[in-house]
This record gives sequence, structure tokens and C-alpha cells, in this order.
Amino acid sequence: MLSTVLDIDGVTAVEILVKTGASAGSLAAAGSALALLALTRFDGATARSIRRTAVAAAAFAAATSVLRIPVRASFLMGGTFSGAFDPAIVGMVAESPLGTSLWVRLAGLALVCLAVVDRRQARIAAGCGALLVCASFAFRGHTLEEPRLVLGLLVTFHLLGLAFWVGVFAPLHRLAGSDTHAAGALAAEFSAWAVRVVPALAAAGVALFVILTADPLAALGTPYGQLLAVKLVLFTLLLGLAALNRYRLTPALQTRTLRAGANLRRSIRLEALVVLAILATTATLTTVAFPERPAEHGAAGETESSAAPALTSTSSPHRHG
Ligand code: HEM
Repeated sequence: MLSTVLDIDGVTAVEILVKTGASAGSLAAAGSALALLALTRFDGATARSIRRTAVAAAAFAAATSVLRIPVRASFLMGGTFSGAFDPAIVGMVAESPLGTSLWVRLAGLALVCLAVVDRRQARIAAGCGALLVCASFAFRGHTLEEPRLVLGLLVTFHLLGLAFWVGVFAPLHRLAGSDTHAAGALAAEFSAWAVRVVPALAAAGVALFVILTADPLAALGTPYGQLLAVKLVLFTLLLGLAALNRYRLTPALQTRTLRAGANLRRSIRLEALVVLAILATTATLTTVAFPERPAEHGAAGETESSAAPALTSTSSPHRHG
């Protein structure tokens, strides 16, 4: 795994960075829409701030997702700057699964922006947008392999759960700084969902891993499995922080214990950092590693970063998103 990560060249590093940004923005945008739809324990000012977050995150997600096209074109042209603007290559990338995923995501993000309208129908439309944003991950990458429908549904479900989790960060952080009692009520409402959503998203992640690799234990000997193990360690850390919030900080908020709000804000900032680290790990594993199924051992197993000349990687069975 270490050599795979150390072998990452400049343009692949940029691709991983942009993919991390696109995932973070997409999750924050979709999550804000889901928070407006599913959570109720916040005041009007917090609802307005969630709407602003939804639109800002959607704009960021759209910009970074679009940026992936020239970055991929540059990669295919051997990492050259001019390659990023070569109309033929950019057109080819736009017509690839990455392009399809981009259109689905942009449509979803546009719907998420309807969250600015303070009406129930608009919230439902924004919720549908969140679903499309999460589903856009199923249109490219490893989940295009068979059984495609199952993998696509699992990754969409995985991301919906994550988005809901991420979407509560901003309103909770805001409320913990202004009204600790209200923050306690929102945290308690979110916790009631989280006990079902978090195990479900983890189960979807495990199912993805098992289906993609067919032999998860053997996969742990490959860069893909090892990067996934890093992700699991970070996920355990995230669960630890979430448990601290639920069992220590939320009750402290409800009883208005001194510094409870400040402690929760710090914990949420830490959670957000861990989420970013997980997204960067996931972006790395979906860019430079591939789930090697037993039948494929010893097969070409080409990754984007190892393909040379890079253009040939478009025909690789392990073409990533
Ligand atoms: C038990 C915990 C988890 C497991 C087992 C797991 C596993 C997986 C697997 C196997 C995939 C498919 C990767 C591929 O296409 O090759 C995936 C996708 C993804 N996971 Fe997780 N995951 C977990 C938790 C998380 C968490 C906590 C986050 C974020 C904070 C996260 C973010 C993502 C993202 C963004 C994708 C889509 C990647 C893409 O297609 O670009 N996962 N996950």
C-alpha cells in the first residue's frame, strides 16, 4: 500500500484532492437538504443557515465535480497542462462514465438549491436532489462492475447515510455556540436517527467491500484492502467521537453544564476533520487501487496512475471514477 501511495504523481494527487473536495461538497449539500427534510428541532435562524449551507456546498460541489473533467483529461494526456484543455480529450472524458455521473450530480445539486425556498414541496424536491447527488456516485468507478445494480444501490444508500450524518454538523455547531439547550434537543433528535442510519451505512460499506473483492481477507493483502483498512480505523475514530457526543456531550448540553457547548463545537470540528481524512482515503483507494477479485489475480490490474501511456487506461477494466 505504501509504495502505491508513494508512487502517486502530481496530476493523480490533484485528481485525488479534487475528488475529495467534490465528495465533501456533495455530502454537505445533500446532507443539508436531508437535514431540512428529516429534522425539526431547530429555530428559523438555524433553518436559514442550513439553506445557505446547502447552496454554498452545492456550488462548491458543482465546481469541483466539473473540474474533474479537465483534470482527468490532463491525466490521460500524461499530466500535461495543455491536455486539460484539449477539446477532443475533454469531449471523450465528458462522454465517459465520469461525464454521465457529472450530469446526474449537477441535476441533483440544482434540485438541492431549491432548499432556499421555505416550502414543503421545495424541501421534498431538494431531498430528491440529495438522492440524485448520492446516486451519481454509482455511475462511475468500481461500482460499474457486476452486479452493477446491487453495487449502485449499495453505494447510493452508503452515501445517503453519510450525507445525513455530515448534514447535521453545521446546524449543530451553530446552535452549540448560541443556544446550548436547543443544540441538545437537535443532538438528541439526530441521535435517534443515527442509531439506525450509522449501522446501516456501515453495513452497506461492508457489503460493497465483500462484493467488490469477493474474498475480503485476501483483499487485505492488496493496496485496495489496506487503504480500506485505514478507512475503517478512521471510521472507528469517528464512531468514538459520535459516542462521546451522544453519551457525554448531549446530556451535558441538556442540563446546561458549563462549557458543554464549546466542547460539542470542538468535537464536531474534530469529526469534520476525520470525515475529510476518510474522504481523502476513499478518493485515493478509488483512484490508485482496485478491488482485485480472485479470478483477476495476475490479470492486468492496471490502475489510472500506473497506466502508460495514460490514454490506454480508458480501456482498463479497472477504470476508476
Ligand atoms: C464500515 C465503514 C465503511 C466501509 C466498510 C466502507 C466501504 C466502502 C466501499 C467498499 C466503497 C466502494 C469503494 C469503491 O468504489 O471501490 C465505499 C464508497 C464510499 N465511501 Fe465508504 N465505507 C465505510 C464508511 C465510510 C465513511 C465513514 C465515509 C465518509 C466519511 C465513506 C465515504 C465513502 C465515499 C465518498 C464512497 C464513494 C467513493 C466513490 O465512488 O468515489 N465511507 N465505501
